[in-house]
Amino acid sequence: MQLQEIINAYEKDLAVVESFLEQGRESYVDLIPEISRHIIMSGGKRIRPLLIMISADLFGYHGENRYPLAAAIEFIHTASLLHDDVIDHASMRRGKAAANQLWGNAASVLVGDYLYAMAFKFLTASNNQAVQELVSVATATMVEGETLQLIKSGDVNITEEDYLSIVEKKTAILMATACALGPVLAGEPSSSVDMMTDFGMKLGITFQLTDDTLDYVGVEEDFGKTIGMDVREGKMTLPLIWSLQNSPSSRADRIRRIVAAKSADDGDVEEVAGFIRDTGGIEYALEKAGSFVAEAKELIADIPPSFPRDAMVVLSDHVLSRTI
Ligand code: FPP
Ligand code: MG
Repeated sequence: MQLQEIINAYEKDLAVVESFLEQGRESYVDLIPEISRHIIMSGGKRIRPLLIMISADLFGYHGENRYPLAAAIEFIHTASLLHDDVIDHASMRRGKAAANQLWGNAASVLVGDYLYAMAFKFLTASNNQAVQELVSVATATMVEGETLQLIKSGDVNITEEDYLSIVEKKTAILMATACALGPVLAGEPSSSVDMMTDFGMKLGITFQLTDDTLDYVGVEEDFGKTIGMDVREGKMTLPLIWSLQNSPSSRADRIRRIVAAKSADDGDVEEVAGFIRDTGGIEYALEKAGSFVAEAKELIADIPPSFPRDAMVVLSDHVLSRTI
């Protein structure tokens, strides 16, 4: 099965989600739909709505509620990116100038707030308290993750464990929630909800791990974001954490000083990237990502074969091998 086959199979569902995304960003204040359109229509992969459609299908839920819920999750994701790009002083997102560069920080934060509020409007439409609680807690967790990351910014002593804990909270929890929504909507027992939460968590960690390697070795035109942003922001990710812990202290100390200063120029970024390449940090992070995907696939291996189960497997492999 190819990724395109999966997208084709859920094309009609995703088109309905798209109409909610369109309707939800409307406002008489023109700047709101203008900025919203800029980020929402910039080639986002709609991975989370797709996960919700597949997960619902996997557990036999085909009710209408899945559409506004998928739009809610995509809006929470979009709002978090608008805010994150302000926090990270980003210049590019999805191959275009980031909203904060075009309209400034204040407008970006406010439009993020709008989409975030509309997400909760869509969420109430579900009339399902379990769903509302799941999504609210996930959003609060994302803020915790992003705040933990902020506290650790420039801290060159962070461990792999600290890093994974941040990644679970800031990124993986929303994918875990998307995957859990299927069994929750279908009224499945908690064992199924837990299984899909774990599956989505591992998929989400893989997603961030590949993102963090692409920040060093990606091709800017494909990746759609400036390469080397993490070092500039003093953000320690797994390739760097591992390389620092596994190389002679003389070279590592110099790299630590660059990262801690949070003012790396192009030359510094190249030096850190070269250091990671030479010392195997990329291979280590990708191996780790591979083992998370293997664990994710193992979790759903006992589900009887079906199109949605196989689609989850194909999507997992895609998250691991992506370059964009
Ligand atoms: C991107 O990470 C950002 C996130 C995964 C989550 C950001 C979360 C918040 C700002 C808090 C939640 C806010 C709302 C409104 C729900 P990254 O910087 O590692 O990736 P990037 O390279 O794509 O920027
Ligand atoms: Mg960022």
